[in-house]
Amino acid sequence: MTRITVLGTGYLGATHAACMAELGNDVLGVDSDPGKISSLRRAETPFFEPGLHDLVAKHVASGRLRFTQSMEEAAAFGDIHFLCVGTPQLESGHGTDMRFVDGVVDEIGPYLHRPALFVGKSTVPVGTAERLTERLTRLAPAGAAVEVAWNPEFLREGHAVADTLRPDRIVIGVASETAEQKLRALYAPLADAGVPFVVTDFATAELVKVAANAFLSTKISFINATAEVCEAAGADVYQLASALSYDPRIGGNFLSPGIGFGGGCLPKDLRAFVARADELGVGQALRFLKDMDAINNRSRKRMVDLARRECGDDFSGKRVAVWGAAFKPDSDDVRDSPALSVAEAIRAEGGRVTVYDPQANDNARKAHPELYYADDALDAAAEADVLLHATEWNEFRTIDPHSVGAVIGSRRVVDGRGSLDEDRWRAAGWTYRALGKPRIG
Ligand code: UDX
Repeated sequence: MTRITVLGTGYLGATHAACMAELGNDVLGVDSDPGKISSLRRAETPFFEPGLHDLVAKHVASGRLRFTQSMEEAAAFGDIHFLCVGTPQLESGHGTDMRFVDGVVDEIGPYLHRPALFVGKSTVPVGTAERLTERLTRLAPAGAAVEVAWNPEFLREGHAVADTLRPDRIVIGVASETAEQKLRALYAPLADAGVPFVVTDFATAELVKVAANAFLSTKISFINATAEVCEAAGADVYQLASALSYDPRIGGNFLSPGIGFGGGCLPKDLRAFVARADELGVGQALRFLKDMDAINNRSRKRMVDLARRECGDDFSGKRVAVWGAAFKPDSDDVRDSPALSVAEAIRAEGGRVTVYDPQANDNARKAHPELYYADDALDAAAEADVLLHATEWNEFRTIDPHSVGAVIGSRRVVDGRGSLDEDRWRAAGWTYRALGKPRIG
């Protein structure tokens, strides 16, 4: 049984800790936030993530998963330390704020008296693993016996547990045979089940993560840029995307048009990748990614434009219902959420915006107290001049458009995710609009 610590118990850390316990390890989760630690000790997860609560509860009960605030305890306990703290965008620019990463290293370093493997999972600028190796060797009493490895995480919110226990691939960046062997042993249950295991150097492992997210962002922005052309040409981007998806070289994933990507990862990773390339003197190579970011922001603006048009070219005094606040369904995360950015832009133009999200109302209210919030989908739509579908929760896809039609002021829907059944809504007497689709009716 390997003794593991997980430093940072946010989305990534809490999931990783519970999954490592599920794989049979003895795990200690560490966080500086006393509130988080006490709720995790009671097996309460501080965010909505399907399946995570049950897994945390199972292993808090089995005794394989414990939590502490003490770095000293963590250093004494762990054979392998996983770094899972956040790496947000700098307030002052597009680069990465390394405050939490460096803070954890500086805190745990002086307590590392025995050999250990320090494994980074956080998304970081390339060059970080090398820099932290030097820093830990200097800080740790065990010196060079504390090794570093990089093991990027590719989990999606809403699928975090499944993505950790059955990942598409495991990537490790290592500088020694011992580090590789330790991680191979740890992940043997997954590799034995057929998960591809890719061993690289530090820099490659670090870059795999940002390259993956930049590629995914590019796919989404490509289809959303094409949606603009479809609008101008009277074509339908949804039919176009579906036709593209049959080409196995293109594939259909991440090709859903709409108001674009948000969340705590894709937007900031895209910008950080460009910022780091700039620092390395190769900014030119990634200049196109700035366009992907701009297309993404423009998709939100185009949604506002479409909604305004449905409101007679002016939002002032108009009631606008927004279904969805989370950046994607099955999550309560509202960071850089396209739904909320659209809602806020309409409010700023004088609209009276009421938002409803099945899980994210509380987080949305904290981030945007100036918007109105409703307790259910029908309440949000009551007497509205237009309904905006901004996050594709299943609840919205399956709702009866007749029941919404009975409470709304004007039967107009703008589908920002293209996932409502257009024929069904039209049959119920609605005017249906979506980005990248011809205007009918
Ligand atoms: C992403 C990566 O998928 C994951 O591998 C990485 O570890 C972290 O970042 P996540 O942020 O959880 O995960 O969300 P994801 O499911 O990738 O969706 C990102 C955004 O793209 C959402 O706002 C989603 O609505 C949007 N999206 C996704 C589209 O607009 N169109 C698509 O076709 C797919």
